[in-house]
Formats: sequence, C-alpha cells, structure tokens
Amino acid sequence: MNTFGRSFRVTTFGESHGPAIGAVVDGCPPGVEILESDIQQFLDRRKPGTSDLVTPRRESDLVEILSGVFEDRTLGTPIGLLIRNESAKSSDYNHLRDVFRPGHADRTFIEKYGIRDHRGGGRSSGRETAGRVAAGAIAAICLKKRGISIAGKILEIHGESDPALFEKEIREAREKGDSVGGIVSITISGCPSGLGDPVFRKLDALLAGALMGIGGVKGIEIGSGFSAPKMFGSEHNDPMSPEGYLSNNAGGILGGISNGQEIIIRLAIKPTPSISIPQNTIDISGNPRSITIGGRHDPCIALRIVPVAEAMAALVILDTLLEQEKFTAWREPGSV
Ligand SMILES: Cc1cc2nc3c(=O)[nH]c(=O)nc-3n(C[C@H](O)[C@H](O)[C@H](O)COP(=O)(O)O)c2cc1C
Repeated sequence: MNTFGRSFRVTTFGESHGPAIGAVVDGCPPGVEILESDIQQFLDRRKPGTSDLVTPRRESDLVEILSGVFEDRTLGTPIGLLIRNESAKSSDYNHLRDVFRPGHADRTFIEKYGIRDHRGGGRSSGRETAGRVAAGAIAAICLKKRGISIAGKILEIHGESDPALFEKEIREAREKGDSVGGIVSITISGCPSGLGDPVFRKLDALLAGALMGIGGVKGIEIGSGFSAPKMFGSEHNDPMSPEGYLSNNAGGILGGISNGQEIIIRLAIKPTPSISIPQNTIDISGNPRSITIGGRHDPCIALRIVPVAEAMAALVILDTLLEQEKFTAWREPGSV
C-alpha cells in the first residue's frame, strides 16, 4: 500500500524516472494558511544537487498545489501535490536493466512483482520521498499552530561524532568510490501528553514504522534505546516531581502514549548502496555477474534523510494529534 495515516492520510505516487512524483493529502483541517512557497522551503532542504557532498542529480523540485487550497487556505478537501521530474538520465541505467544491484531492492521487486522500472531504482528510489516531504511540510505547518516543532540533525557519520570531521569521512569514502552511513536524531518538542494508543497503535510503534519506512534506515532507538539493557531499573525509570519528570530515558513515550516530554529518536542509516567499486551479483536469469554502478549517487544518504525523517515524524504526530482531539472532545469537562 502507498497510503499512510488515518485522520491525516497521505498517498504518495511516482517513480524516479517517470514524468512526476507527488502526494495526495486527505484529512487536512480546513482554514490553515498554506502557500506553495512554504512547502517549497521544506523541499529545498531535501532536494539533490545542493552541495558537492550529495548526488549531483539536479532537480528544482518545484511543488505545484493542484487542489484542496483556495486563496492560500486549506479547504478540508484532498490536497494534490505535484513535483515534476526534470533530470532523469535513464540511459545511465540501461546496463542495469537485467542485473540486481547489491544493497538495492532490485531482486526483491522482481521476486514480489515479476516486473520493475529499473531506472534510478523506480519506486524504491529516494526520489519518492519528495512527495512525503511535501505532505510532511503541510503537517509541520499545522503542528506549528499547536506549538509543536520537529528538528533533525546528524549525530554521527561512519562512527565519527565530531561534526568537523563529517565532511572528511564522506570525501574519503567518495574518493575510493565507496559510501558511508550515519546516525540521525529527531527531537519533537512541544508535544502534548496523550498521543498514541496503548496497544496496536503505540506512538513509539507508529514512529518506528514511519521512520523505518524511509529507504536506508536500518535501526531506530527511542529515548535510551539500546543502552537501556545496560542500566538498572533504578537508573532507567524517570522519577517524577510536582514540576514534572526528572529525566527522560523514556524518550517522551510511556505505554505507547506521549508523556509531554521531548520525544527523542535516533535512526541508524546504512551506507549508500550504489558504489562505483566492482561488486559480485547475479542477473535476472541467475548467472554470476560483476557490476560497477555509474550514475549520480549520494556518497552518504544520511544527510538527505534528515528532512525526510522530520516529515515522517510530522505526519505521525499530526495524525495522532487529530485522533486525540476527537477523543478529548468527548471527555467530561474537568475530568483528569
Ligand atoms: C532521500 C534518499 C536518497 C537516497 N539516495 C540514494 C542514492 O543516491 N543512491 C543509492 O544507492 N541509494 C539511495 N537511497 C537509498 C535507497 O533508496 C535504499 O537503500 C534502497 O532502496 C534499499 O532499501 P533499504 O535500504 O531500505 O533496504 C536514498 C534514500 C533516501 C531516503
């Protein structure tokens, strides 16, 4: 399925080298001021070709609002968002038509569908995420009206946590025709308590699902995450005082429900699969092959995943906020 969310529902469409990609947003509250230029600001942070450390594919990634907005205000009807593909050099991929690239979805696509658009990774290309960022921009604008903000940043590149050395790690890998991964953090501030459900739609599960739904994300931690097993319960529990929680090992979520603290998430991003070092693989008939991947690629996709992860987090938080607002509307006045 290509649809995400319940109350704020997003469907993305498009392939890397087709005519266009985009999203349809259903369930956006009416009357919210949205300008194309607001959405564009978010897309500009994701778009390729912005520095020599990311893919040189040039795309202006200009968004067109096709529906659902009238005189700069949302109508409450479906919002159509279109981004045309301009720089699709499909000939770069001709030699990969019948070969499976290691680290990519080529083989699993054939095993699932029996057919695939091999150009630029088709539907599993990072390009698909432009539609999510455009939809996430709308969610972020709505959340801002409720005082909720989402900020992502790079914590590590290839095991290096000193930001002064990030560029060096990426350049060294690229010079060898190789690639590196990294760790990205997402912090959600101003989130009220009460978002998420205790069992099947736990907020941590929804965030993990949304963020693992980004290509290249291999791991996720909420709060203390993988350090929790090294701690005692007495260290890990977050004590409470009348002023609030005294620590945040929970990462802002308890029992699947936001607790009003900052929500803190870390994502492990794998090294970019396309590398120009020869690799062993097989072709569609099962014959052994060696391939060297040309085309235009990011030596470290972690840099470009930051705005995508912010967008996915915004979609989850707005979706659960809208659900919770319906819920609280029925609570008796004065109930705790
Ligand atoms: C924004 C973004 C850009 C990406 N750019 C590239 C790229 O230039 N080259 C590449 O090999 N993979 C790129 N990827 C990663 C692949 O899409 C992804 O690793 C692949 O589809 C396999 O999926 P998986 O890693 O989730 O298993 C990108 C992913 C994202 C989210």
